[in-house]
Amino acid sequence: MSSIFILGIESSCDETAAAVVRSGEQVVSNVVASQIATHQPYGGVVPELASREHLRAIVPVVRQALAEAGKTYESIDALAVTQGPGLAGALLVGISFAKALAFALDKPLIAVNHLEGHIHAVLLEERQKGNHELRFPVLALVVSGGHTHLYLAKQNDQSWSYENIGHTRDDAAGEAFDKVAKLLGLGYPGGPIIDRLSHHGDPRAVKFAISQIKHPDRRSSPQKAVSPGKARDYKSESAPPFAVFEGWGKTPRFDFSYSGIKTAVLRYIEMHKLAQSIEARRHALAEKPKAKLEDYLATCDVETLNLIASFQCAMVEDLVAKTLAATREYDVATLFVTGGVAANNELRQTFETEAAKEGLPVYFPSRPLSTDNAAMIAAAAYPKFLAQQFATMDFSAEAGMALR
Ligand code: KG4
Ligand code: ZN
Repeated sequence: MSSIFILGIESSCDETAAAVVRSGEQVVSNVVASQIATHQPYGGVVPELASREHLRAIVPVVRQALAEAGKTYESIDALAVTQGPGLAGALLVGISFAKALAFALDKPLIAVNHLEGHIHAVLLEERQKGNHELRFPVLALVVSGGHTHLYLAKQNDQSWSYENIGHTRDDAAGEAFDKVAKLLGLGYPGGPIIDRLSHHGDPRAVKFAISQIKHPDRRSSPQKAVSPGKARDYKSESAPPFAVFEGWGKTPRFDFSYSGIKTAVLRYIEMHKLAQSIEARRHALAEKPKAKLEDYLATCDVETLNLIASFQCAMVEDLVAKTLAATREYDVATLFVTGGVAANNELRQTFETEAAKEGLPVYFPSRPLSTDNAAMIAAAAYPKFLAQQFATMDFSAEAGMALR
């Protein structure tokens, strides 16, 4: 079959992105306009501002993606756009623009689930490297600012389907990174800076207990303990020992919970009287909008660096232990780790080390394709293009869209 060029558009959160991907296996262009500077003063994404920034950026970003690909509007084969999940107003900017383009150009339009996009970021790059062999079952951990979800991914002919076997019951892992960074006066987004500062602290200094998930009705579904994690005894809450409980359906579930660790950090800050130094840090960093690692380090004492390193260590251990427990339960042959938090250095290293011990191949996207981008949307659209699963013009944004 001749090459198929799909123009992908992504606007679900705080990145306006467009990309051209050839036949689901080659990134021809990939443009991302970040809104970090807009949201930074507020310590998180402000939905109204996000929509406004998308409106401002969408036309130049799409034009740049086409220009860098050496393509015209007429020479692309199809358009793909994120339908959800995400911020409704932000999604609508990308969807309205993509619909108008598709209508004007008389090209097919494909609606893509953002989470499926994160999974296809891995597939896209593996194909790009020439790796077309994939052993099933595949388990994908999608770990980002909005999600911490485990999916079993299946392929039937061209089309893909997904079964969710675990998700966060409260905060997503990226959200926990962002909230803890905000509590510590480190600004937004928190993941990248915590990642870099963690190397400068002792990860064993503070012991955090990440809360474990109990099934709402444990009488009807007996509990099943899986792989004890390392003992952690910081008294953030009364955490039972590491355990995973049988789910409410036919299949066991591997749920996460990260709101407790944020509260534990807050409690640590109060007990160790860190408020003043946090305020001083916040002021110092507010004066340096382009702060470098040295600037952050200059504002952090040893106790704070130890707290940051310990927080990251607890997050990584929990994500890795629960995901690997799920791979054992489902006899998984291949593991994908994707989404913004998959850019985290310690998470990658720990997954690589621990999965290697079990002979399990683990794949990550490159860092630029770990966080939000449109290449992953164009890649996920390719099998749908082959199956002619085109969107009708009346589809709309689905803020809480599930992946199936
Ligand atoms: O996938 P993404 O770009 O957007 C969502 O779909 O949410 O993920 C953004 C999230 C943010 O919470 C950010 O703090 C986190 O990914 N993140 C990281 C790192 N880089 C981004 N978390 C930990 N370590 C990183 N290096
Ligand atoms: Zn994302």
